[in-house]
Amino acid sequence: MSNTSDIYAYRFPEDDFYTSIFNDKSINAKVFTDIKTLLDKSIKENDVIFIYFTAFEDNIVDLLDILKRKHKKNPIVAIGERYSQEYLEGIFEHHYFTYLNIPCSREKIIETLLNAKNKDTFHKPDIDLEAELNNAQKKLIVLNNVAIALTTQKNIGHLLNFILTKTRHLLKADAGSLYLKEGEKNLRFVFTQNISTNWSGEKDILLEINDKSISGFTAKTGHTLNILDVYFVPPTFPFSFNQDFDKSTGYRTKSMITAPMYNKNGEIVGVIQLMNKRRDYEGCKKGIKLKEENIIPFNNEDVDLLNNFASQAAVALENAKLLYDLRRTFEGFVKASIVAIESKDPCTHGHSERVAELTVALAKKINDIREGTFAKLRFNEKELLQLRYASLLHDFGKVSVSDEVLTKSKKLYPYELENLIARYKFIKKSIETDYYKNCYDYISKNGYDKFLSVKQEMENNFNKQINEIENAINTLVKSNEPTVLEEDSSNKISELAKSEYTDGDGNKTAYLTERESKALSVKRGSLTEQERLEIESHVKYSYDYLSKIPWGKDLARVPEIAYAHHEKLNGKGYPKHSVEKDIPIESQMMGIADIFDALTAQDRPYKPALPLKKALDILSKEAENNALNKELVDIFEKYEVYKCLEEKN
Ligand SMILES: [Fe+2]
Ligand SMILES: [Fe+2]
Repeated sequence: MSNTSDIYAYRFPEDDFYTSIFNDKSINAKVFTDIKTLLDKSIKENDVIFIYFTAFEDNIVDLLDILKRKHKKNPIVAIGERYSQEYLEGIFEHHYFTYLNIPCSREKIIETLLNAKNKDTFHKPDIDLEAELNNAQKKLIVLNNVAIALTTQKNIGHLLNFILTKTRHLLKADAGSLYLKEGEKNLRFVFTQNISTNWSGEKDILLEINDKSISGFTAKTGHTLNILDVYFVPPTFPFSFNQDFDKSTGYRTKSMITAPMYNKNGEIVGVIQLMNKRRDYEGCKKGIKLKEENIIPFNNEDVDLLNNFASQAAVALENAKLLYDLRRTFEGFVKASIVAIESKDPCTHGHSERVAELTVALAKKINDIREGTFAKLRFNEKELLQLRYASLLHDFGKVSVSDEVLTKSKKLYPYELENLIARYKFIKKSIETDYYKNCYDYISKNGYDKFLSVKQEMENNFNKQINEIENAINTLVKSNEPTVLEEDSSNKISELAKSEYTDGDGNKTAYLTERESKALSVKRGSLTEQERLEIESHVKYSYDYLSKIPWGKDLARVPEIAYAHHEKLNGKGYPKHSVEKDIPIESQMMGIADIFDALTAQDRPYKPALPLKKALDILSKEAENNALNKELVDIFEKYEVYKCLEEKN
């Protein structure tokens, strides 16, 4: 059998030493220099493949692929100066393989090659078919599970961590890094793990996609690289390994595999890189230094697995990114909606964001509570997001309320007050004119001497009238304030509403219009009944608007939660006058946040911000009146939930 086998020598230097070996009668090697020839040759099962080490260093992925597909049974003899039989056995695990260290004598080389022709005296792979099958099945199951798990991970950070952890487990790698493509020119180093240095975490370094770095090369060319020792990258490659991390930590990076992550369209979206396959992976412990003798190269199966996994991960990642982008678009839309609400009433700037912060902080606090009514109440991530959106948009309906009502700070609109004062100035002037006219008429009719006898009386009468008008103006200006209306003022307003003066055209006109007397008669606050109803209608508009958005299953309750933010437990809220059992707990929480912010907001010119203590007292009072949920108010106060706003600033 051995007599019929040939020796194929691949990528040897053209020097006398090797030429004399290849020309030796017992060897008579066929020499070739490129991998394509090796692939094309009709190599027989017993032919020996003799490789010079630069060949398998340069093209280990391609070489392993060819050996696996075409020459699985061929004996392989490799000669090199850097590795050992032990280090490389894993790579050629299914081959008859032996390794010769340079320097090596001519005789030793010839003897090894002749032995290789006769496989009996050669290193035999230890193949346990049953164990192989079991192992392959196990890997398939793991790969399958991982593929399923990949589709369920929606959070990009968790997904990156998951991808790296699983690939490391599958390939028994000590360390790994993940890079994501950013635009056409850059790769972002986003995540790294390392068992033996106990180091893992997010990274944020931007690399250029070019030939200079290993990951950049893979991103640029789409080639999977399997490097035996990164400290000795073959000179045929344009990149080199950056040893900075090793130097600063004492770590030794040796074997490395780097694969591109292809999406469904065949575009590269990232790069996975694993370092140092471990012989002792199963028993290894975190943070314990990795001994160099436990590092082995990645083999052909690893290349296949990583390529397969990288593409699945790429698809999962793209899906997660799509979701993330969608969410970002939606967040942008929500933010734009808030700008629309707050541009209607600049005085409430930041209100929606603060209500969202406070409400979500309250929900998170409830998640920590293990006693009382809320011991079992929990809000998961989706529910917290739902609550956040409901809070951010709770007042959106204000876009449908007229600006002047929304920003109304006094009982009369500014232009109404101006009109009113101008009217009273006119009345004053009319009284004055009347007075002088009366004086003149009297003198003309009765003479100046007689006039002197009534002058004082006429003057007193005039002054009285002027005083009355001035008092009326003062009362009206005072009544215009949104504070509690005094009874005297109320009576005065009724009286003025009934009084009349003669206008410039000689028409009898009321001192106060119906609208003015109604507005100024408001007992407390600045709004008439009609205006109050208009403001309250914002809840209904919020609901109508939010109901038009297809929120999807997870966020379906956003409209419902926002709708009830002005309801009170005692039924005195609006718009439905619901009672406790009918008000979603989320709306009850939001109601507290909403009132708290309205009381403490710094930016309302018509209303000074209340000190914290006073605001909390008001909340407690509202809870005592069964307007607000007492337990929620207690939690809000006891755990200083409102401090989340300070943290935010
Ligand atoms: Fe509201
Ligand atoms: Fe609000």
